Amino acid sequence: MAEYEYETHEYDVVVVGAGGAGLRATLGMAEQGLRTACVTKVFPTRSHTVAAQGGIAASLSNMGPDHWQWHMYDTVKGSDWLGDTDAMEYLAREAPKAVYELEHYGVPFSRTEDGNIYQRPFGGHTTEFGEGPPVQRTCAAADRTGHAILHTLYGQSLKQKAEFFVEYFAIDLIMSDDGVCQGVLCWKLDDGTLHVFAAKMTVLATGGYGRAYFSATSAHTCTGDGGGMVARAGLPLQDMEFVQFHPTGIYGAGVLITEGARGEGGYLTNSEGERFMERYAPTYKDLASRDVVSRCMTLEIREGRGIGDKKDHIHLNLSHLPPETLALRLPGISESARIFAGVDLTKEPIPVIPTVHYNMGGIPTNYWGEVLNPTEDDPDAIAPGLMAVGEAGCASVHGANRLGSNSLIDLVVFGRAAAIKAGEVVDANSVVPTPNKASIDAGLSRFDALRNASGAVPTAALRDEMQAAMQADAAVFRTDKTLAEGVKAMTDIADRESDLNVTDRSLVWNSDLMETLELTNLLPSALATVVSAEARKESRGAHAHEDYPDRDDKNWRKHTLATVNGNDVTLTYRPVHLDPLTDQSEGGIDMKKIAPKARVY
Ligand code: FUM
Repeated sequence: MAEYEYETHEYDVVVVGAGGAGLRATLGMAEQGLRTACVTKVFPTRSHTVAAQGGIAASLSNMGPDHWQWHMYDTVKGSDWLGDTDAMEYLAREAPKAVYELEHYGVPFSRTEDGNIYQRPFGGHTTEFGEGPPVQRTCAAADRTGHAILHTLYGQSLKQKAEFFVEYFAIDLIMSDDGVCQGVLCWKLDDGTLHVFAAKMTVLATGGYGRAYFSATSAHTCTGDGGGMVARAGLPLQDMEFVQFHPTGIYGAGVLITEGARGEGGYLTNSEGERFMERYAPTYKDLASRDVVSRCMTLEIREGRGIGDKKDHIHLNLSHLPPETLALRLPGISESARIFAGVDLTKEPIPVIPTVHYNMGGIPTNYWGEVLNPTEDDPDAIAPGLMAVGEAGCASVHGANRLGSNSLIDLVVFGRAAAIKAGEVVDANSVVPTPNKASIDAGLSRFDALRNASGAVPTAALRDEMQAAMQADAAVFRTDKTLAEGVKAMTDIADRESDLNVTDRSLVWNSDLMETLELTNLLPSALATVVSAEARKESRGAHAHEDYPDRDDKNWRKHTLATVNGNDVTLTYRPVHLDPLTDQSEGGIDMKKIAPKARVY
């Protein structure tokens, strides 16, 4: 192997990733006086949170009655009873506080006539524990809410003197021999230098792995980098079988059309012009939760009522809404519809199709963001020195299906929680431990091997194969047959990582090498997804298994843990947390309200 020199940087905390969760964690750490570095492969305000449109859920009651317990109930039901009860309570209770903090930091939320934060309806958010009408709970900055949050958090982080290392690619975690995370090894993309960030706490905020699929609303940067590093460190990934399809990706382009469009009064129709959601979800119709809507759209297409020559998509109608509403509340999607579908949405419907949007699974954590390394004796044992937040993590607050606008609130609530916890466990006065040389060398050796990879398969070709297999075999509906085919295909594809071919050997702006490193992060996540899905013999949330159409709480109300080693995956399980944080006698939820039942909308 070539000799690689590296520069060592020492911090109390290193955050990897500068999306909403990474920036909220960075800001919270820096506010407490912890020396904080944020390393990111893209400029912070280009992180994928910038694409979040519709809004952020919190029971502010600005538009009518709401309560954190109703939000918690909706989240439990949305999760199809797979979420951890303590984490879901924490999310719903802390959400209003976290949103008001954002407001005070300067997020330019849309406003009601009387100056309050504007809130819109979103799928699966209801009143009266699912007995009342839809609630307006989703706080919005027009349809550019993620953009507004990201810019505000970046500015605030700079104000608190957090240090940013922009266009640094994280290669691998640095682990001590006894399993403590000691930082991360990085490659600086613009000059080819290598860097060790040694830290007392490492926070992975690297986003999801949507790009394991062919068609996704996720940015091309969403390559599961945190999951890849965690898998290589021998730690498990959790609930990877649950992949969310957003009902309204633009047909052909995959670009997101926010659920806020249906929140503002938009509706779906089939080739007969029928508002078919009324048949499937008589109460909440187009505002049923997104796994339900995506399945109904897929059924309409399957049954021959799709639109277009190929009868393979659905229409989203907005032209009945006043043009002022579209201009004020949905300016971004008006532009996206024009650019990506060639449609003037004041006059025509938008062609849409369910599109991969979000990974409910990820790096298992508790609700403080501490990464779990479960053992037989202790399913909640932590991996010291390591946290994960945002889509990279699995708290598990979304369980088997996430409600729209519960992602942005997850980012800020758990980014903030990680900072609170780090404030308790990181001693700013202690010295930064010397990072394990053997672990750094292992990372360098992997980097060097990929840089000089001279096998038979170009990175782009293997990535195409992976994306095609995942799209076909781990789709909205799954069967024993498709999943078995998926496991076989993905096992073979993962095996061929050792046969990759990289043509560019340079170290400066080598996109061939960067995409190869990204592919090696996507592969463990993709493999864990199909293997975990093949094993789960029930239907729950986003995992719709046609051979096992019912939810089976007796056997399957448990989290899947997938430990990936090359092309081999070992599955174990850990129990769902059933206890809330607060007893009912102290103001907590009545547990009878969230007892499992049939999930209908
Ligand atoms: O539809 C949307 O605006 C997406 C929101 C979300 O995924 O939370």
